[in-house]
Amino acid sequence: MSVSWIRPCSTPLVFPSKGVEDFIEHTLPFYQSYAPPLIASISAPTAQEFSTLAARLSEVPGIAAIEANISCSNIEEDGRAFAIEPVATARVIKALRQATSLPLWAKLTPNTSDVAAVAQAVEHEGGDAIVVGNTLLGMSIDVHSRRARLGNIMGGLSGPSIKPIMLRMVYQCHKHIAIPIIGCGGISNAEDAIAYLLAGASAVQVGTATFIQPQTMITLLDDLHHYCQQQGIRHISELTGALDDAALLANLR
Ligand SMILES: Cc1cc2nc3c(=O)[nH]c(=O)nc-3n(C[C@H](O)[C@H](O)[C@H](O)COP(=O)(O)O)c2cc1C
Repeated sequence: MSVSWIRPCSTPLVFPSKGVEDFIEHTLPFYQSYAPPLIASISAPTAQEFSTLAARLSEVPGIAAIEANISCSNIEEDGRAFAIEPVATARVIKALRQATSLPLWAKLTPNTSDVAAVAQAVEHEGGDAIVVGNTLLGMSIDVHSRRARLGNIMGGLSGPSIKPIMLRMVYQCHKHIAIPIIGCGGISNAEDAIAYLLAGASAVQVGTATFIQPQTMITLLDDLHHYCQQQGIRHISELTGALDDAALLANLR
């Protein structure tokens, strides 16, 4: 079964949350009880608020890295995401870099015309990795009632339908930056994950597939292990950027 997911955009510009102190006191301890490294994902409507959040979380023991979700609406860019545009991206990553010495990941948006330029801006300002990426802006209409199906009319599309777009963006970014890329978008099995690695990702994230099938990650990891054994791959990094595109690119020249 192949299911995509569309979720409402945040209204108006800022996600409601209980704030960073509540997160540190009530949410973090649960996740700190697990062995894998803990990545804190943050989002804010201004570069200043992004920095304040990053600085506060950097004081908390046990956080391995900060993922700055710069793909959501913000006040400084008239409600557009920082990651739509390289100059705005550079400004927020520069502020974040000054605020934290933890590894800093930037989560990009596919809702941009030049993702490689945005990725380069992250790298130039000292970001340690990029995540490609967040949901694609979409909408859905009920033709019988003539109403939008989402309360906010537009929303973020995720799942298998966005995979070819995100895969292409990972490939484009890999050609332009040296920092690691974490691929994300429509991954629901080991083959999807391997495609992202071959396109240039060093790691992947899985979202929607785990809502549909909570066991997804376990099956994916088992199948990935099996693929590596079959192919004689000793380390997953051997797959990163290993797409055999040389002959095709030569033909294009
Ligand atoms: C219901 C839902 C909620 C999400 N919330 C967030 C969020 O709070 N922060 C974020 O960076 N991305 C969020 N995302 C985006 C996912 O992390 C992911 O980037 C996107 O869905 C594409 O991956 P997928 O196709 O594997 O879901 C959300 C996605 C969905 C479907």
